[in-house]
Amino acid sequence: MKELQIVTVIKECRFEELSPEDRFLVERAKAMTSNAYAPYSQFHVGAAILLDNGEIVCGANQENAASPSGTCGERSACFQAGAIYPDAHFRKIAIAAWTRIGKPEGLPDEEYFQDSPISPCGACRQALLEYETRAGSPVEVILYGRKRCYIFPSIASLLPYCFTEY
Ligand code: THU
Repeated sequence: MKELQIVTVIKECRFEELSPEDRFLVERAKAMTSNAYAPYSQFHVGAAILLDNGEIVCGANQENAASPSGTCGERSACFQAGAIYPDAHFRKIAIAAWTRIGKPEGLPDEEYFQDSPISPCGACRQALLEYETRAGSPVEVILYGRKRCYIFPSIASLLPYCFTEY
């Protein structure tokens, strides 16, 4: 029996080391966290998607008393982008998140962001993958953390051996 390996190579850097374009996209994702509706989890997630037409479309998690009816920041952004610009292709997505839970009150806002990035949930990975497949080229994923950022080369690299067609 053969053993196969699935290897994902990602980049780690500090926010300041990102390109100006990537820093701008991250700033849009960070700003979007303020638009999260997260009264249940107090966990605010923002996402910003750069399209090949130069537009940036953003989203934030939207919770619901009937919890499965809410949605994550990533899907909020990608469905919005798909609905507004149906012919545009995704190029990059940046994601940022913060919570006040577990942190002292009164810190500067920036310090409520996660030190290490959060990573999209499984459902968001699958949803985003559809747009990467439509784009026909990799969609870079920039995950923001105060102490470190991770850059994944594609959505598929976040979802190894993924389901794309039938
Ligand atoms: N959440 C996101 O928006 N993105 C993720 O990748 C993980 C979780 C949201 C969903 C919910 O509103 C809150 O974070 C807590 O799970």
